[in-house]
Amino acid sequence: MGNRLKDKVAIITGAAKGIGFATAQRFAQEGAIVIIADMNLESAKGAAAQIPNAEAYAMNVTDRASIRAVVDQVMQKHGHIDILINNAGITQDARLVKMTEAQFDTVIDVNLKGVFNCTQLVVPHMLEAKSGAIVNASSVVGLYGNFGQTNYSATKFGVIGFTKTWARELGPKGIRVNAVCPGFIATEMVKAMPENILQDIKRRSWLGRLGTPEEMANVYLFLASDEASYVNGVALEASGGISL
Ligand code: NAI
Repeated sequence: MGNRLKDKVAIITGAAKGIGFATAQRFAQEGAIVIIADMNLESAKGAAAQIPNAEAYAMNVTDRASIRAVVDQVMQKHGHIDILINNAGITQDARLVKMTEAQFDTVIDVNLKGVFNCTQLVVPHMLEAKSGAIVNASSVVGLYGNFGQTNYSATKFGVIGFTKTWARELGPKGIRVNAVCPGFIATEMVKAMPENILQDIKRRSWLGRLGTPEEMANVYLFLASDEASYVNGVALEASGGISL
């Protein structure tokens, strides 16, 4: 469609489905070489097969060896990594008193430490190139909290903390770091919610509907592209105005 990301190499974690997949499709339309890095290799391969210039890799963001292996292979093959989209994320919801320690630890490990792991292993290559764009998946839940999401909301607030810290550390080195805070987006995760809660969410969003993965992909595209060349350290809410 365009060439806003022409020849840029973009690693997108958790891109086998949902928002990450839509972002991979959108980036490829703009000329990027897209690295679909997902713990589910079979669905990553299925996703890559639908996208020109996409490659599938097995990566678990909680396993630093698997991240290092992907980064090494991508560097060997392409010689540069220009964009990192830290999109992989999970939920394991329960009210405070019911939440197990395992639920707490698992979500922190994937959504928070996973973002730290991937960024720490990719950034040396961006520093060498003196350029790069990193976009982290936060959420409206990372701005306002949410019932039943003690673990998840802590990770999404934490991702904004990473974003603002790294924007200071890496901005002077030519690397921009931003976050996206989606509202409720029509992926499998959200479609599985009870109908009365979905109705309430649609009513509160002011646009009267859920967002789509494609709409989030456009926000990632903007922040990853040179059009956002003076945007650094923001947490961009894309929720139809749910907080208003
Ligand atoms: P999804 O569940 O549709 O897809 C997530 C992908 O991440 C899957 O392909 C899964 O295999 C992969 N994944 C999970 N754990 C992984 C790990 N440890 N290592 C590597 N890959 C892993 O998710 P969705 O809905 O597209 O969400 C994407 C991101 O956006 C998440 O960080 C989520 O928290 C965030 N988000 C989603 C919202 C929504 O309404 N769907 C709202 C706000 C934020």
